[in-house]
Amino acid sequence: MSQYDVIIIGAGPGGYVSAIRCAQLGLKTAIVEGRETLGGTCLNVGCIPSKALLHATHMLHEAEHNFANMGLKGKTQSVDWTQMKSYKDEVVGQNTSGVEFLMKKNKIDWIKGYGSIPATGKVTVGDTTYETKNIVIASGSVPSSLPGVEIDEKVVVTSTGALELGKVPKKMVVIGAGVIGLELGSVYQRLGSEVTVVEYMDAVCPGMDKDVQRTFKRILEKQGLKFIMGAAVSGVEATKTKAKVKYALKKSPDAEEVLDADVVLVATGRKPYSEGLGLDALGIKMTERGQIAVDNHWATNVPGIYAIGDVIEGPMLAHKAEDEGMAVAEVLAGKHGHVNYGVIPGVVYTTPEVATVGQTEDALKAEGRKIKVGKFSFMGNARAKAIGQADGFVKLIADAETDRVLGAAIIGPAAGDMIHEICVAMEFGASAQDVALTCHAHPTYSEAMREAALACGDGSIHA
Ligand code: NAI
Repeated sequence: MSQYDVIIIGAGPGGYVSAIRCAQLGLKTAIVEGRETLGGTCLNVGCIPSKALLHATHMLHEAEHNFANMGLKGKTQSVDWTQMKSYKDEVVGQNTSGVEFLMKKNKIDWIKGYGSIPATGKVTVGDTTYETKNIVIASGSVPSSLPGVEIDEKVVVTSTGALELGKVPKKMVVIGAGVIGLELGSVYQRLGSEVTVVEYMDAVCPGMDKDVQRTFKRILEKQGLKFIMGAAVSGVEATKTKAKVKYALKKSPDAEEVLDADVVLVATGRKPYSEGLGLDALGIKMTERGQIAVDNHWATNVPGIYAIGDVIEGPMLAHKAEDEGMAVAEVLAGKHGHVNYGVIPGVVYTTPEVATVGQTEDALKAEGRKIKVGKFSFMGNARAKAIGQADGFVKLIADAETDRVLGAAIIGPAAGDMIHEICVAMEFGASAQDVALTCHAHPTYSEAMREAALACGDGSIHA
């Protein structure tokens, strides 16, 4: 007789959400987590602390650049970095203790420690081995570095160290113009650091809508971020207080260039984390990229062992992991868990925010699909003007014949919230006209989405 119906390894958004759904569906559930607090990378050292810092530094930016224009005059702001980090830690604490409360509420046992799987149906944590009918691996990912770059989390840091710097650096070099590089680069630029982003590709956020990439880079440059594009970093030499970043432009690969920095943020991606689980001995199949291979029910090749989130294929996003967590719980409870991988939004929480869903204009054109594109600038949106953030646009893409919505890209205020209108539209197979015929409250940023939908038909009103 098994002690548990399911043991989940890892309490990030994938694991803890899965545990809650398992418990709700009547399964006796335990979650294994070695960190002192629940919530995984996202809550402890990822999405949540970075959002607290992005919010605080956005306020600083507003105070420094826009308050006077709005008639707000008086004492100038100064940065108390220690207090800002405490604020961030408090936000993290509220969220991680919230997850602990949810575990108790749903009668999920938290087995503290790092787990391994000695055999199917068994999970060992410390000296104890627990029996279970099923195991869900939700062990997440860790930052990946570059050859020739040694991380010390003080001078050469990943996103984890970047949240805990002893002081605001004078000069920061960010390697990689992806999501982490741009979010944390923005934080330090607003705090007064001179930030240079070195990126291998010719555009920021590889794979994103090209118009958004161009506008995004232009706006960030206007804010003060510097970019060196088409440049491959080959190594970092660091002392205890300084670093030299060596790179070469792709067009002249033999000419080595050097950048000086007080802190180097390595933001070149993350890799799946499954060390110490004993997967080799179990014979669990892996992909070429080091992810756990699963079928469309998140089952590995070993019966009774499932995997979800960053440790499997797909975008490394908390919400993708959450969806898989709920779906695998349903599979384990004998129901029909499903994730629509075609409708997973992506958001960058800079100012302005960037949000996308579905296929890009370029990818659809490359497929030979006939599409129409409705674009609307926030310059025509009264609400965006009222807050001084009218630089940006909404792009809606629909099938040229059926009018079915295929994707959207937004750069502008509250883009990360606005995108969900299109996620719902896509889930329901809506047309651009459906979006255009839906009454949108005035004055809201979301009106820009309706205008983009109108632009797919007879034309937008305020353009
Ligand atoms: P990323 O994959 O988004 O970007 C890495 C960038 O580094 C790429 O643009 C790549 O071309 C560049 N690069 C790689 N090697 C280089 C070299 N030698 N020299 C110069 N540039 C180089 O990875 P990132 O930003 O580290 O994020 C990791 C993961 O975490 C991503 O999957 C991301 O989606 C996720 N994440 C999501 C967030 C969100 O949804 N807001 C926030 C933070 C992370």
